[in-house]
Amino acid sequence: MDTLIARAVTDLKNARNAVALTGAGISIESGIPPFRGKGGLWERFDPMEIAHIDAFVADPELVWRVLVKELKEVIDRALPNDGHKGLERLGRMGILKTVITQNVDGLHQAAGSTDVIEFHGTFAWQRCTECETRVPTRDVDASVLPPRCSCGGILRPDAVLFGEMIPPEALWRSQEVAARCDVMLVIGTSAVVQPAASMPIIARQSGARVIEINPEPTPLTGAVSSYLIRGGAGEVMNRIMAALEHPG
Ligand code: OAD
Repeated sequence: MDTLIARAVTDLKNARNAVALTGAGISIESGIPPFRGKGGLWERFDPMEIAHIDAFVADPELVWRVLVKELKEVIDRALPNDGHKGLERLGRMGILKTVITQNVDGLHQAAGSTDVIEFHGTFAWQRCTECETRVPTRDVDASVLPPRCSCGGILRPDAVLFGEMIPPEALWRSQEVAARCDVMLVIGTSAVVQPAASMPIIARQSGARVIEINPEPTPLTGAVSSYLIRGGAGEVMNRIMAALEHPG
């Protein structure tokens, strides 16, 4: 791992325009469960039954009871970890320009990262299915489900459910920053959900180095990514940042 950390440090030192793509793995150390793998949400629930737009339309109370309430409780308590903080420090050093995140937990912004593209929307807000008014999730009274807007419409997360489109501006901007970057850090994503998983492919095809940080290989490993640093996001980012901030 030491050699790969040194390689990442060199690549980041030489970078003029680094970008990160993050997934649920970066927030595991903050206590938020991932979707896939051990302890993942999709091990306990069928995403088509509780995270698909058709499921929400058919039975919003069930989706709120199972998915939304569960997420609200963990996200309300979660704080950024060393992975999020490391990316914020890389941004402050002027190396990292943008974070594209598939996460809806708001932890990159809580860590202080300024340019964050929320590819799958956000859980920090709910929006009315009738009048489109947005309400901060922390102000939503979830004692009666599904919660309703003052207009009487049902509230839903301002996040992308299965079967829905990526917010067009998030997609368009992500494609643009992926095509322009010279280094892409791909942290904590299984890289199986499209179109997010195409961003590293766009970066690689445009000549960028793609550095994966993940305890496990992914479909990108050995095919799209230049190399994989196997480990948790917090530990690996701490080691990279220590070498960048205190060289020698
Ligand atoms: P996944 O749950 O699919 O993948 C989590 C990844 O994090 C796996 O590759 C793990 O090996 C890795 N991992 C585990 N522990 C880690 C650690 N400490 N540090 C770094 N990585 C670690 O999550 P995503 O790839 O984000 O979509 O999932 C993509 C999308 O699928 C989500 O945005 C969500 C879901 O369905 C929607 O809700 C639309």
